[in-house]
Amino acid sequence: MSYFTEENSADAVNARIGADTDPRLREVMTALVKHLHAFARDITLTQDEWDYAIGFLTRTGQMCSDERQEFILLSDVLGFSMLVDSINNRRPAGATENTVFGPFHVADAPIREMGANISLDGKGESCLFEGRVLDLDGNPIKGACIDVWSDNADGYYDVQQPGIQPKWNNRGRFFTGADGRYSFRGIKPVSYPIPDDGPVGQMLGHLGRHPFRPAHMHYLVIAPGFQKLVTHTFVGGDEYLTSDAVFGVKQSLIAPYERLEGADTVWRSPFDFVLVPG
Ligand code: BEZ
Ligand code: FE
Repeated sequence: MSYFTEENSADAVNARIGADTDPRLREVMTALVKHLHAFARDITLTQDEWDYAIGFLTRTGQMCSDERQEFILLSDVLGFSMLVDSINNRRPAGATENTVFGPFHVADAPIREMGANISLDGKGESCLFEGRVLDLDGNPIKGACIDVWSDNADGYYDVQQPGIQPKWNNRGRFFTGADGRYSFRGIKPVSYPIPDDGPVGQMLGHLGRHPFRPAHMHYLVIAPGFQKLVTHTFVGGDEYLTSDAVFGVKQSLIAPYERLEGADTVWRSPFDFVLVPG
């Protein structure tokens, strides 16, 4: 047995883990302690910096409520959410890629008829979203649920503006028939800042980073016998595509937006979703 020293610090802590500890918990905690101690040594962490970090994490926790998850936002802006998402959603070529879920999904959105309009506040440029849900061989998937949500033309989700936006504004669920097709009307999405009035926003400011996400439409696609798909489609040409505050952009998710001439609907954005069995 040896006492704790600067040199053996991680080993000294990890040696205390009990023999009956769950093997995966042992693996996770051993690596966490090892990397955390190496981090402090690498940067020669000062006592003041440690104090600041504890204060920052405390404020992050205090910002959390049923409506706000500041720790997930912290994970998002550090690129950690996207790393975990990438590790857990490795997919074969041709399958639609995953991206970050985000905090603004609301379960049990209204089930709407194909072609229905999800924009209930009359703002923004109307856009027709349509395409198919397919398997890896290009066969249509019947009975897929396409759950969609987006911000409104002012850059806010309905849940950020209760009493200002209609409930379920820019949200809906659609079920595919035998042809695997979906279609709905919404608005051409606009870019918006992630919630930046808390410690995470302050951190972005100190780092000279902006809080904006490029314009996108969210999709959660669920079909029996297939892996769940959590993704967005992005609007090509958006000024924030290469500097998304949460690193969610993938080239394959940038969708076409075609301007329609002389119609009530101004834009059309076609996109097919390809699911992986599982
Ligand atoms: C979103 O796209 O809704 C989002 C994702 C991560 C953090 C904040 C917002
Ligand atoms: Fe979003």
